[in-house]
Amino acid sequence: MQSRTPPRTTRTTDVVVVGGGIIGLVTAWRAAQRGLSTAVVDPEPGGGAAQVAAGMLAAVTELHYGEQTLLALNVASAQRYPDFAAELTEASGRDLGYRACGTLAVALDSDDRAHLRELHALQQQSGLASEWLSGRECRRLEPMLAPGVRGGLRVDGDHQVDPRRLAAALLVACERAGVVFHRVWAERLTVTGDRATGVVLADGTALDAGQTVLAAGSLSGRLAGVPEGVLPPVRPVKGQVLRLTVPERYAPFLSRTVRAVVRGSHVYLVPRENGELVVGATSEELGWDTTVTAGGVYELLRDAHELVPGITELPLTETRAGLRPGSPDNAPLLGPTALPGLQLATGHYRNGVLLTPVTGDVMAHALTTGELPDEARGFTPERFVRDPLTQRFMEQPA
Ligand code: GLY
Repeated sequence: MQSRTPPRTTRTTDVVVVGGGIIGLVTAWRAAQRGLSTAVVDPEPGGGAAQVAAGMLAAVTELHYGEQTLLALNVASAQRYPDFAAELTEASGRDLGYRACGTLAVALDSDDRAHLRELHALQQQSGLASEWLSGRECRRLEPMLAPGVRGGLRVDGDHQVDPRRLAAALLVACERAGVVFHRVWAERLTVTGDRATGVVLADGTALDAGQTVLAAGSLSGRLAGVPEGVLPPVRPVKGQVLRLTVPERYAPFLSRTVRAVVRGSHVYLVPRENGELVVGATSEELGWDTTVTAGGVYELLRDAHELVPGITELPLTETRAGLRPGSPDNAPLLGPTALPGLQLATGHYRNGVLLTPVTGDVMAHALTTGELPDEARGFTPERFVRDPLTQRFMEQPA
């Protein structure tokens, strides 16, 4: 019998987005709203790191030295969240679990307190609102906190959203806006002459596109066919996260996000209105490994228990590990690359959920004008160049 190769189909679209996580979906939604015919390629759209993330919108409490440019983008996105959540809820008919609950960052010993004092000073220099509280004041706000809490920072502007609901809502909003989904892997970028002209899918379909957006999270550096100098320098940074359930009789267990740095590791507890309590997260440079380990779970529970001893009473309902897309400067890579026709929306590292609204706006602008808006100029992928000798990425001198 003669075997036949199925005919290769070619489809054409204005924009193809490779990756259907929250960043790819928000890019596709905003592009479709601007009248661009848009397709998303992902075997499981709405999946990815958002299925693991806690959903803290922590522009102020996750401020780090040397990340002032990123801070401006984080704050811009946090400010857009209320309107973004309202618009997306309206467009999808889905609730996002957006909660303006605030955050309390606490210290358990004198080292932690010194670290928090420094963070407070940096926040004040940066014009951010946060208030120093004594241990007693912290416990008055959150009675479940351990008696040993030595002080803390009250940040009323750092809120939360439920990333799983966010992803589900974006998926519906995209479908309603006419985005076409290809539920397969993207096999390779097509380059014709000196331009990216779309992607070939694992099922053999060739998608021709005026603009291709690589938004595949930690996998963004792995798409075949992307020229070496353009391939984004993202790497996977593993995070293990636990989900506990607060039974009705214990509610309200915590009224806001509570976090701390314990023995140098971040631990946070994010209480949702539906009783879910998310405890995160480890930060591990282990390549593509997503195993949930006894050690990871132990450390999270140990540190969370030091903050809030009562968690040992709660059912442990889920353990999961995901991969953050880390970039060399911890900031995203947005917009046009050196290869015409190829844009990036990746490298969001610890801030993907927070940066979703502003990324959608930035990418819509970049896709319709070919340029980054002013607020995103610092995040051009072209800030990284390869060292010709080592082939390692280095930051472009300012
Ligand atoms: N932004 C929290 C985390 O990445 O763990």
